[in-house]
Amino acid sequence: MEELVALCKRRGFIFQSNEIYGGLQGLYDYGPLGVELKNNIKQSWWRSMVYDRDDIEGLDASILTNPKVLKHSGHEDTFSDPMVDCRSCKARWREDHIESSKCPSCGSEDMTEPRPFNLMFKTSLGPIDDGSSFAYLRPETAQQIFTNFKNVLDSTSKKLPFGIVQIGKAFRNEITPRNFIFRVREFEQMELEFFVKPGEDEHWHKTWLENRLDWWEKQGIDRENLEIYDVPQEELAHYSKSTLDIMYKFPHGTEELEGIANRTDFDLGSHSKNQSELNISSNTQENTDSNAKLAVQDIETKEWVVPYVIEPSAGVDRGFLAILNEAYSKEVLEDGKERVVLSFKPHLSPIKAAIIPLKRNNEELVELAKNIKNSLQALQLGRVVVENSGNIGKSYRRHDEIGTPLCITVDFESLEDGTVTVRDRDSMEQQRMASSDLAEYFKNYLIF
Ligand code: GAP
Repeated sequence: MEELVALCKRRGFIFQSNEIYGGLQGLYDYGPLGVELKNNIKQSWWRSMVYDRDDIEGLDASILTNPKVLKHSGHEDTFSDPMVDCRSCKARWREDHIESSKCPSCGSEDMTEPRPFNLMFKTSLGPIDDGSSFAYLRPETAQQIFTNFKNVLDSTSKKLPFGIVQIGKAFRNEITPRNFIFRVREFEQMELEFFVKPGEDEHWHKTWLENRLDWWEKQGIDRENLEIYDVPQEELAHYSKSTLDIMYKFPHGTEELEGIANRTDFDLGSHSKNQSELNISSNTQENTDSNAKLAVQDIETKEWVVPYVIEPSAGVDRGFLAILNEAYSKEVLEDGKERVVLSFKPHLSPIKAAIIPLKRNNEELVELAKNIKNSLQALQLGRVVVENSGNIGKSYRRHDEIGTPLCITVDFESLEDGTVTVRDRDSMEQQRMASSDLAEYFKNYLIF
């Protein structure tokens, strides 16, 4: 983990947030390369969910959430972790994160009994902060998908089964944020709420598990480093009938990367008025303050049905860490030099190609490099840069370390015959190619 953290800072993937003021615990900022990798992960997910299918629509809802939503979703009552205090050094811990009854900080056994600590952040709304008008920062993106269920259904005429996805920030006041970006207080989720007929839920739960495993493998995660954890009844969230967690072998241990829950009709039922008139099977929250009927009418029987929900919910930041860890390797070359490589799948690489003029600041070479950059950039397959450092060896090392799959060198021969050298990051093989063939080669290399 230390090597990844150091690489992230050195090369501009991730910085500690608010660093110049001493930082703020559990928050990180994504730098120039980090934001590219993160966007590529999100795009790949969105493409697989929305563009490659015909049964899923997207949404981008507000982060600030009416407290009634989170009252009726059950989060006000139950979204908490057990917290203990050390009476000796006053440190606070999540009870299930400490191994013995001793304080990990000072070793004292004088600890309080665990008590629930609600993880939701509150903020005041409007100009008067008298505590009466407040909103929550959403703890999951899911709830605003449920509150928009009717809007999406009415505006798109979808039929069951269908899904709504959202990618966005979620906030949790974690008692002990830790392990770099694994457990933080502000993070991003990629969530699908897939609405199905009751009775078809178990089939779809299995189907989505397979789909999600397949997607992670396509992002470069070795299947051997993934495990399925069938969450036992006593650990299930209040809305879940069954949850299958996809666990990844993170550098600090095997932990949850994505949860796939069968939320039944709990959420749509909880946000619906006149619950007794609907055939709801789960133990929903008390009758809602909303005026909505979050149900669909069966065309044949005319009965109202509250759909069941299968929810694959993945953390962008945890995905980032897993993909980074999987791509990272360090090797010693024949000449004794060390090579650090991030072997990202090309569609995820922050920079797709670096165009390197052999001689720094040589006008003709730099101009040719810029022209090649512009022609490849115009294909809109991701970021292409001109690397004008003048040292080919250093440029290759830098681009290996940030995961650029192709380095294209222009030299004096290029000025004469229009050929360039293309170097592959993984094999380190170099081939001479006509620059007029580059666009086709680049497209074939990158199209996913
Ligand atoms: N809507 C369901 C839900 O939020 P969850 O298991 O609490 O379920 C889903 O969260 C995913 O969000 C997790 O699998 C994880 O990837 C990510 N996640 C949750 N808490 C996080 C935190 N404090 N820091 C980073 N990622 C987190």
